[in-house]
Amino acid sequence: MADQIAASPDLLTYVRDVSLRDDEILRELRETTAALPAGTAMQVMAEEGQLLALLAGLTSARLVVEVGTFTGYSTLCLARALPADGRLITLDVTARWPDIGAEYWRRAGVADRIDVRVGDATETLPALLAELGAGSVDLVFVDADKANYLAYYEAAFDLVRPGGLIVLDNTLFFGRVVRPDAKDPDTEGIRAVNARLRDDQRVDVSLLVMADGITLARKRSG
Ligand SMILES: C[S@@+](CC[C@H](N)C(=O)[O-])C[C@H]1O[C@@H](n2cnc3c(N)ncnc32)[C@H](O)[C@@H]1O
Repeated sequence: MADQIAASPDLLTYVRDVSLRDDEILRELRETTAALPAGTAMQVMAEEGQLLALLAGLTSARLVVEVGTFTGYSTLCLARALPADGRLITLDVTARWPDIGAEYWRRAGVADRIDVRVGDATETLPALLAELGAGSVDLVFVDADKANYLAYYEAAFDLVRPGGLIVLDNTLFFGRVVRPDAKDPDTEGIRAVNARLRDDQRVDVSLLVMADGITLARKRSG
């Protein structure tokens, strides 16, 4: 049985070389974001953006909810994967970062698919559930404050349809999940959602050791 291989820098360069599909708009948004404080740490890596687009396609997504927009790189990747009449509702606590992404969404021709809702997602996500109805969303991508991940997961579970997908970013939280001295609310939030997902028989689950840990949870049909 093959085990997890060690990913050396050379191997990761090779992976990028043979699998990443990039273009000018994505590259420029990454560069603009990298110039911001903590920009690179916040934004999903390019390979993850590509994975998100693939997952949207696999779920035939028409309605997507994103928790944590920042400058909208993952937003752009997901929106491009939707059909022309698809819709992506993205939540952030501030308009400051999504406003930067808006120009790139326009250039990519997907701005009309993207609806930014500004506010604390602990409030805007339940409000969205009331607005859209349970089981109405094809895919939810969670990438905001980690302390609230368990609440976001539970709301996302209610939002997605049977067969729909919840994707949670940073579920290894820079390795802090296994550090006994890491007791901050963000690390504890990630540990709490990981433990919940392990035992939650309502979903099929896989934690991908990619980027900073990406968990896929597919809502079972019945
Ligand atoms: C890691 S970044 C998202 C990165 C984004 N997915 C990308 O690929 O560029 C997290 C975002 O969550 C937002 N955020 C933090 N706490 C929040 C909250 N309580 N409600 C909504 N958004 C929040 C931050 O403003 C930040 O833009």
